Amino acid sequence: MADQNSSDRNSLGGRVKRYAKVGRAAGGLAAKVAGNRFFGLTIDKAEHASELQAALGGLKGPLMKVAQIMSTVPDMLPEEYMTELGRLQTNAPSMGWPFVKRRMATELGPDWQSHYKEFEHQAAAAASLGQVHRAESEDGTMLACKLQYPDMSSAVEADLKQLKVVFGIYHRYDKALDPSNIHAELSERLREELDYAREANNMKLYGHILKAETGVHVPVPVDALSTDRLLTMNWLEGEPLMSFVEHHADARNALAENMFRAWYVPLYNYGVIHGDPHLGNYTVRDDYSVNLLDFGCVRVFKPSFVRAVIDLYKALRDDDEALAVHAYETWGFANLEREVIDILNQWAQFLYAPLLEDKVTTIQENGGVAYGAGVAAKVHRELRTVGGVRPPREFVLMDRAAIGLGSVFTHLGAEINWHRMFHGLIDGFDESKLDKRQAKALGTFDIPLPE
Ligand SMILES: Nc1ncnc2c1ncn2[C@@H]1O[C@H](COP(=O)(O)OP(=O)(O)O)[C@@H](O)[C@H]1O
Ligand SMILES: [Mg+2]
Repeated sequence: MADQNSSDRNSLGGRVKRYAKVGRAAGGLAAKVAGNRFFGLTIDKAEHASELQAALGGLKGPLMKVAQIMSTVPDMLPEEYMTELGRLQTNAPSMGWPFVKRRMATELGPDWQSHYKEFEHQAAAAASLGQVHRAESEDGTMLACKLQYPDMSSAVEADLKQLKVVFGIYHRYDKALDPSNIHAELSERLREELDYAREANNMKLYGHILKAETGVHVPVPVDALSTDRLLTMNWLEGEPLMSFVEHHADARNALAENMFRAWYVPLYNYGVIHGDPHLGNYTVRDDYSVNLLDFGCVRVFKPSFVRAVIDLYKALRDDDEALAVHAYETWGFANLEREVIDILNQWAQFLYAPLLEDKVTTIQENGGVAYGAGVAAKVHRELRTVGGVRPPREFVLMDRAAIGLGSVFTHLGAEINWHRMFHGLIDGFDESKLDKRQAKALGTFDIPLPE
C-alpha cells in the first residue's frame, strides 16, 4: 500500500514535471515556427511535429484547451502545430484508484464512499484538468464525477505564462492580430475553469435557461457531493456527434437545429455563451436531442454586446456601413480605419452569410478545408498589410462558437433555413428586457454580472 502511494505520488510529480517540459518545448517550437514563417528558413516540418508530439507525451492539460481555442484565431499558428495539438485529446495520464480514493477523501471526507452506492475505479473519460468517473447514487441515479488533479492551478499559471511567451513571439513577427486581449480573455476563462463550484453554478444557469428546450439536456449537479475541485452530476447517456453524420437528412437537420438552439438561445435570451463547442462537450441521444456538457468555459456578455451582434447582422443585410462601424465599436474594436472596416466586413460577411438569405441552405466550403480557414487566411493576410487589429476580449469566444458550430453544421451537411431559425431567436429583441432577465438569472445562481 505504501509503495502504491509513493508510486502514485511519483507519477503525479512526474506529471507536473512534464508540464514544465511541455512549456519549454512549446517555447522552442514557437521560436522555430516564427523562424520558418517569417524569415523563410526551412525547417523539417515532420521533425517539428514529432518533436511536439514527444514533448507533450499524450498529455491533455490546460495547454490543450488553449490550443483548441487558438486554432480558431485565423492563421495564428501553422496547421501542423494545430493538428498535433488537436490530436492530443486522448490518452491522458490517469489517476490510479489509490490516488483517486485519497483525492475523494480530501474533497468529501474519509467516509466519502458511503455517499455512493457504486464508484467505478477506472476513469470513464479524461477531462482537461482531471478525469471523470461513473458512479451510482444511493437512490440508484447514474452519476458522473469530475475530479480535478491536484496542483492544477500552478499548471494553469505555468501554461498561461508560456502562452504569453508564444503570443509575444508571434506578435513580434506578425502584426495582423494583437493578441493581448486574447491572452487576457483566455487567462480569465482558464482560471475560472479551475473552480468546479463556479462550473456547477453555470450548469444550473444553463438548466434554467434551457428548461423549455426539449432538444437539449443539461446535467444537474449534486451539491452535497461537489466541491470546488469535484463536480458530481447526473450521467447523460449519448453517442458522439460524429456517429450521426451518415444518418437520414431529417435526423441531421433536427440535430443541427438542436445544436443551434443549445448555443444561441442562451446568447440571445440571456447574454451567455458556452465557449467551447468542442466535440467532447456534447453527445447525442437516439432521438437526436443533444446532451450539453462542460460548463467550465462560459462567457457572460453585457446586453449591449448582444445588441451589437444583432446590429451587425442588420448592417450586413441592409448594407448599412454606419451601423456596422457602430457594432464593431460596441464589440470593442478601436481605431477603425477604412481599410480595417472593409476587412472586418469580409469576416463578418462569411460568418453571417447563412443567416442573410431567407431560404434553405447548407453551410459548406469549397476544397474541403476546415470551416472558415480559407476566408481566415485571406483576412489575416490583408490585416497584416494595413497594420493589424486588436480583437476585443468579447470577440474570442463568440468567434470560437461561430466557427465551432459552423464546422458541426458542415459535418452534418444540414440543410436548414438558418435565417428563419435565427429570426425565431432575435425577433422582438429588447436590450433592457435582456438586462433584467440576465441580472435576475445570474443573481439566482450566484454568477457575477459582466463588467
Ligand atoms: N454528465 C456527464 N455524463 C456523461 N459523461 C460526461 C458527463 N460529464 C462529462 N462527461 C464525460 O467526461 C468528459 C470530460 O468532461 P468535461 O466536463 O468536458 O471536462 P473538461 O472541462 O475538462 O473538458 C466529457 O467529454 C464526457 O465524455
Ligand atoms: Mg470538455
